[in-house]
Amino acid sequence: MDGNGRWANARGLTRVEGHRAGDAALVDVVAGAIDLGLEWVSLYAFSTENWKRPPAEVRFLMGYSRSVLRARRALFHSWGVRVVWSGEQRRLWPSVVRELRETEVMTANNPGLTLNLCVNYGGRSEIADAARALAREAAIGRIDPEAITEGDLAARLRGGARVEGECTGPRPRPAVPDVDLFLRVSGEQRISNFLLWQSAYAELVFVPELWPDVDRLVLWRAVEEYARRTRRFGGAVDTPHPAE
Ligand code: IPE
Ligand code: MG
Repeated sequence: MDGNGRWANARGLTRVEGHRAGDAALVDVVAGAIDLGLEWVSLYAFSTENWKRPPAEVRFLMGYSRSVLRARRALFHSWGVRVVWSGEQRRLWPSVVRELRETEVMTANNPGLTLNLCVNYGGRSEIADAARALAREAAIGRIDPEAITEGDLAARLRGGARVEGECTGPRPRPAVPDVDLFLRVSGEQRISNFLLWQSAYAELVFVPELWPDVDRLVLWRAVEEYARRTRRFGGAVDTPHPAE
């Protein structure tokens, strides 16, 4: 959800006004994702690098995340959305963690779209944590370092449902699936530490709209672009077309 600050500054407003304007985009994109029949949407709300921002903006973003969760979860719940949280608890305001957990529990059995809210999330830190978990298990002899597979690491990513007793809802917390479509808004063309492991073969789509201007139509067009791509996952298909 990028470009709030630029959207606001271009209108002579402060950055926090841009974050406020992003709420409508969030609701419309979730509605559009349901219309499209998407099963999983991950939204990058706050990165482990965003703590570098001025304290007043960080404070606003914490309070605002909490109030958006409170204000929107009943609506998402009524739409059958299952909300899950990916991110680190460290440094996050306890009140934000509480809202995230409560929202997860409230929506845990919903059958519809899974909305993965990435709050205080960082791709590298997620992978480092998984590596640490593997190292700990190897150190006590529970796993053989030589036998570690990609799947073993994937199963220990924070989004995974691997740690017993860590599930917050009646249904086990699902693992974050591999990303099909990676949509970056706001004209930036980079990944910015988002879902690094899961995006190994993601189709990247970049659009110029700043987050407050993003709506279900932007999502729809990105999905159309995705549908035109040919995914080979490193494979190859030989189909010679003679020139006409
Ligand atoms: C919102 O957009 C993303 C958040 C971290 C909340 P930005 O705050 O990054 O806005 P720009 O990119 O500076 O315009
Ligand atoms: Mg930005």
